[in-house]
Amino acid sequence: MKNTKIKKIISTSSYTIKIISSKETYSVRHSVLRIGKPIESCVFNGDDLETTIHLGIFAKENLIGICSFFKNTNPNIPEKQQFQLRGMAILKPYQGKGLGKIILKHGETLLKDKNAKIIWCNARENAVNFYKKNRYQINGESFNIKDIGLHFLMYKVL
Ligand SMILES: CC(C)(COP(=O)(O)OP(=O)(O)OC[C@H]1O[C@@H](n2cnc3c(N)ncnc32)[C@H](O)[C@@H]1OP(=O)(O)O)[C@@H](O)C(=O)NCCC(=O)NCCS
Repeated sequence: MKNTKIKKIISTSSYTIKIISSKETYSVRHSVLRIGKPIESCVFNGDDLETTIHLGIFAKENLIGICSFFKNTNPNIPEKQQFQLRGMAILKPYQGKGLGKIILKHGETLLKDKNAKIIWCNARENAVNFYKKNRYQINGESFNIKDIGLHFLMYKVL
């Protein structure tokens, strides 16, 4: 699957979810996850690998939320077919309206179709309850990621 090829996945009267390119994620990554940091900080390792999937949720033509899935192995998780969720973000005015849940759910369905067994993420402390609501579990103690803050390893068996 080419990352640059935009493919419509689901569309309702209020939103559309599409596969987007890594570059398209930068505006939302920057304004939600890397506030005040250089735009280069929005480029993640592995963004352009064939195995990486970036999803965008659009209201009309405007990108309002994103999440990305990387075929990364976490040493604390034994399962082979695992993906890392990164760059989960909804623009501030659209937060708390169920859109994060919707785009994440679509990512999970997409990965399940690709035979993935586990999704894991390094969850920011303030997002732990969002992941818990989406049935992700904490594994181990919290840890610090430089310049970003306290995180927890969380995972979900698909
Ligand atoms: C975290 C984030 C992606 C959630 O997306 P969202 O669209 O705001 O969340 P939703 O409206 O889909 O919420 C789904 C559920 O999680 C809960 N929830 C959402 N964000 C939460 C948070 N930060 N803390 C606690 N609960 C949260 C909601 O109350 C809702 O519960 P419900 O189903 O019982 O109503 C979004 O708020 C965001 O971009 N935050 C800033 C960036 C960030 O922290 N990203 C995560 C990096 S690891």
